[in-house]
Amino acid sequence: LSSTDVDLAPIAVGQAITVTWRGKPVFVRRRTPAEIEEAAKVNVAELRDPEADNKRVQKPEWLIVVGVCTHLGCIPLGQKTTEPRGDFGGYFCPCHGSHYDTAARIRKGPAPKNLEVPTYKFVSDTKVSVG
Ligand code: FES
Repeated sequence: LSSTDVDLAPIAVGQAITVTWRGKPVFVRRRTPAEIEEAAKVNVAELRDPEADNKRVQKPEWLIVVGVCTHLGCIPLGQKTTEPRGDFGGYFCPCHGSHYDTAARIRKGPAPKNLEVPTYKFVSDTKVSVG
């Protein structure tokens, strides 16, 4: 049994950090109001891997996903605001061009599934335990 505690306090709106859990990168992103709105307004029925935003996050502000592309396992870009985030503003996998949205759902490119949401829980308002 291993879990990773993440201190959310230093993460400003629009910023993100990457932590390691079970040897994998986990992306923790504090979404902006625009990103939250973008994720919520998508027609779920049109998605390749249909999942509503509110089934993927526990709190709208915090997107927490495993940072491993569901195509062939590269690490997508987009954690830093200076990195490409693809056509849907979330993440972009440069290996073969998969585009993920602001809920890390696959929108374009070869990846078959959304980025995986790990098991996690909020221990307090500013601390989350992944795993
Ligand atoms: Fe990400 Fe192929 S591994 S698109």
